[in-house]
Amino acid sequence: MTKNITYITTPIYYVNAQPHLGHAYSTIVADTYSRFCKLRGDDVRFQTGTDEHGDKIVEAAAKEKVEPRQYVDTISAMFRDTWPLLNIGYDRFIRTTDKDHVAVVKHILQTVYDRGDIYFDEYSGLYCTGCERFLIERELVDGKCPDHLVEPKEITEQNYFFRMSKYQQQLIDHIQDNPEFVAPERYRNEVLSFLSHPLDDLCISRPASRLNWGIKLPFDDNYVTYVWFDALINYLTGVGYPDGPQYEHYWSGAEHLIAKDILKPHAIYWPTMLMAAGVPLYRKLHVHGYWNVDETKMSKSLGNVIRPAHLVENFGVDTFRYFSLREMSFGLDASFSSDAIITRNNADLANDLGNLFSRSVAMIDKYCELILPQPQADEVDADLRAASATMIDVYRRQMGDFKFHLGLQAVWEFVGAANRYIVQNEPWALAKDEARQARLHAVLYNLGESLRLLALVLRPVMPETAETMMRGLGIDPQSELMQTLDQGGDWGLSKPGTPLRKIGNLFPRIDTKKKAQPQKTDQKKVEKTVTSNKIDDGYISFDRFKDVELRVARVVAAEQVPKSERLLKLSVRAPEERTIVSGIAQSYKPEELVGEHVIIVANLKPVKLMGIVSEGMVLTAEMKDDQGNDRLTLATVSAAVEAGAKLA
Ligand code: MSP
Repeated sequence: MTKNITYITTPIYYVNAQPHLGHAYSTIVADTYSRFCKLRGDDVRFQTGTDEHGDKIVEAAAKEKVEPRQYVDTISAMFRDTWPLLNIGYDRFIRTTDKDHVAVVKHILQTVYDRGDIYFDEYSGLYCTGCERFLIERELVDGKCPDHLVEPKEITEQNYFFRMSKYQQQLIDHIQDNPEFVAPERYRNEVLSFLSHPLDDLCISRPASRLNWGIKLPFDDNYVTYVWFDALINYLTGVGYPDGPQYEHYWSGAEHLIAKDILKPHAIYWPTMLMAAGVPLYRKLHVHGYWNVDETKMSKSLGNVIRPAHLVENFGVDTFRYFSLREMSFGLDASFSSDAIITRNNADLANDLGNLFSRSVAMIDKYCELILPQPQADEVDADLRAASATMIDVYRRQMGDFKFHLGLQAVWEFVGAANRYIVQNEPWALAKDEARQARLHAVLYNLGESLRLLALVLRPVMPETAETMMRGLGIDPQSELMQTLDQGGDWGLSKPGTPLRKIGNLFPRIDTKKKAQPQKTDQKKVEKTVTSNKIDDGYISFDRFKDVELRVARVVAAEQVPKSERLLKLSVRAPEERTIVSGIAQSYKPEELVGEHVIIVANLKPVKLMGIVSEGMVLTAEMKDDQGNDRLTLATVSAAVEAGAKLA
């Protein structure tokens, strides 16, 4: 049987800002979908990356007083360093400054030019730097760009134009013939409504005299290409267009994932560009809504930007992944709050799933010596079995349709059914009666089997937890049984006689009383209290140690704290940027520290030292110098270890 092919992409993110909740959400969705597609047996490719040319980037670099090249390298690395923290398993991280991408952009420009769909003309228009494009009157609200709330500048210049208008009817026809081309439907309707007005041609160049941080037009090097024309093409570069061996294969399964903010470039510019270049259109565009924070738009000026690394520190990677997929109805906006994520953790994860797992394993331990018992053939409980089949069916359909919240709802209905099954069957009562041994074994087998199926379907959403569950059930995560829904989705495939393993709580509860808003002002953090925190005879439990988050951090700047002999203020990346005040001024000069890879305690509660908020602690050891004076030496690691790497 030939495999379905899926090539899923995220937007490539601008490097004028550090990664935040919104970027993390799109990337988690794409990662989950990619893992889900593998689970349903597809041949999958997944790409993400960074968008590095254009006015915005030049402006941001100038603000930091560095060259664009150095600036984009730094911020792009922050995105690349963040994704492993969220267990994002992409196949390629593309940068628009990559050599192969530059070549593909030039190739497409030349092709479209040779076909007569790029022409030179003078143009006057209203240019918004934030959008990096000319706006039309009808898009303005009170004379301002509705997204950036600034009046666009009137600019007159000679430029190259892409004959987008020529493809308007062809695009309308395509959308009408392929109802799933843009989803959910509200965005499809939005695109069709936009297309009901005449489409302008698209200005696709900028004079190199005004902007030289871009890709030169192959037919006129006085111009660079417009950033969107450059950026959209990344999706083709990544699969080896035009003649790479995998190009046609993966491009046939192209599905793009974006938020509503960049609908127009993806649903209008991109398909018409593909038509003009003679390339088949992508299969589907999936559009999601926006995350707000406590009902307010996330913005740097409001100080409410949520950083993914902080969420992982405070709540754990799988709680964050689960929350984001369960809480947002794909396509609509959603609101982030620490209350909401704590509630999901404590109710859905710790209570429903975590308890089902720990209760079931504990009973298999108590009554069957931690070995999955052999059920009697006639003891299979039809209701539970039917509930599992319904879960797999609904899950397969909803996840495939990007309705992750509904897919997960179906999974939790089954978690509920399995918890009720325990209450109804009272294994503890069966265990007291010799004559009901067979029934006890069937009930415990059915619980073990339910957990196996749960681990299978939860793997795309919470890869770490699912693998922990598998190991607890004595199942090798690499075994064939756990690779696809076809191989492992049927009831009854767990092998009786398998030894289980005791593992700790899947999800510690988070104490709601102790919480604070994560990251409201970058310093406050949610405190997590883990249940098994006791100190015995001077030892601490592993759980307690696990709570200390040690990370590698790269020092990017250091300075003496005014009026202090002892303190240095360090800016470090781990991988997000943070400030740490450290008492090492008598052992190190600030300039010696820049570039060092040090070890920090990343989840220490922030404190104010000499008026500066210190977000963590740098680890040092005491020693004597050549003169026998006390000094501190930094615990370091090789520069080859990436900033943000965890120590365990
Ligand atoms: N560089 C362009 C995209 C080019 S793709 C060929 C760009 N970059 S961006 O950094 O601004 O990223 C926009 C995307 O980030 C959104 O489409 C979405 O995927 C994600 N999000 C940014 N903020 C978001 C929220 N507040 N909520 C949800 N996702 C958001 O546009």
